[in-house]
Amino acid sequence: MLKGKHIVVGVTGSIAAYKTASLVRLLVKEGAEVKVVMTPLAKAFITPLTLATLSKNPIMVDFYDPENGDWNSHVSMGLWADLYLVAPATANTMGKMAAGIADNLLLTTYLSAKCPVMIAPAMDLDMYRHPATQKNMEILRSYGNLIIEPEEGELASGLSGKGRMAEPEEIVEQIRNFFVRTEELRGKKVLLTAGPTYEQIDPVRFIGNHSTGKMGFALAEELAKRGAEVTLVAGPVRLKTTRTSIRRVDVVSAAEMYEAVMQEALSADIVISCAAVADFTPKEKSGVKLKRGNESLCIELLPTRDIAAELGKKKKAGQLLVGFALETNDEECNALLKLKKKNLDLIVLNSLRDEGAGFGVDTNKVTLIDRSEKIEVLDLKLKSEVAADIVDRIAQMVKNQNGGK
Ligand code: C5P
Repeated sequence: MLKGKHIVVGVTGSIAAYKTASLVRLLVKEGAEVKVVMTPLAKAFITPLTLATLSKNPIMVDFYDPENGDWNSHVSMGLWADLYLVAPATANTMGKMAAGIADNLLLTTYLSAKCPVMIAPAMDLDMYRHPATQKNMEILRSYGNLIIEPEEGELASGLSGKGRMAEPEEIVEQIRNFFVRTEELRGKKVLLTAGPTYEQIDPVRFIGNHSTGKMGFALAEELAKRGAEVTLVAGPVRLKTTRTSIRRVDVVSAAEMYEAVMQEALSADIVISCAAVADFTPKEKSGVKLKRGNESLCIELLPTRDIAAELGKKKKAGQLLVGFALETNDEECNALLKLKKKNLDLIVLNSLRDEGAGFGVDTNKVTLIDRSEKIEVLDLKLKSEVAADIVDRIAQMVKNQNGGK
């Protein structure tokens, strides 16, 4: 399962480091190539010789070899790795990772790693519970790092609670799942719209909405993580795309978004309409700034073209269409009507009545409704986690299309 995968295991100074020996052994047994980097304190808990023997590679602790001056290059290690796993991760190391401190080789490797990072914390229950630790984990999650939750149970301090590093078998299972997921949408072309549109009134004014594009950008990241080829058609937003594999097309108005989407739609396997597209646009756009007057001003608005509905009409065989619905009342009923009217396969429902959901915030609460009218209500979570759930569902639908393969 892990054959040929390059895994760097970072070990920090925690008693749980004794479990890293079996973890490394299991990874090697699964066919992975493992290199271990330790913090100086980790050597007090497990010997480099043990880990070198099990990983079949020399251990790295220092920036350079004091005997011959050879550099241990954290940059080349970061590039070599398909995955960087820090297990066990102490509160201290997580704090430094979150803050960008780089005073040992494990940390410089972290900062230069381009690959995904998984972190298995291990510490006493009160240290784990402390808001500083929780905040640091939140920061690490926001960097896209995956935290393998510690387990409840007896701790080295003699106390009992949450803080035990996950068992090696559990960590290996999560790594396996992780690599399966990265392949899930390999080769699939996904077209995604995100953000608001601005409809020009005159050179300085426009009609817009509160969408910030966060949900759509989180989806783009998640889809790219799973191997999809993503084209992101983005309205005017302040967000950056971090992955170079995401092709971004910036547009401003609903008409521009329509054109950009229609150009790409035919070649897409999956189209996700996440943008909050304006439903109306001024009939006339003034070339000069409208002047203040005492008369009331009437701006005649014309309806824009419904991109999602148009995609639904032109849907090619096997193409999956996903839409969003932001509702304020009769939510499920309205979303279901939209799913049918626009010929979608899945609709993601947001309710403005849910606290912590909707525009601008980092969290969202959504309900997924498919053509069989199956309704799945998800909890309030980070938009990145909501994106993972939505992509899970899409990947499942793709799998079903291929007869479960
Ligand atoms: O009908 P309503 O605007 O509520 O539908 C929302 C869904 O339709 C979203 O998926 C949105 O991206 C899409 N939409 C669109 N083009 C429009 C209006 C909405 O693609 N002009």
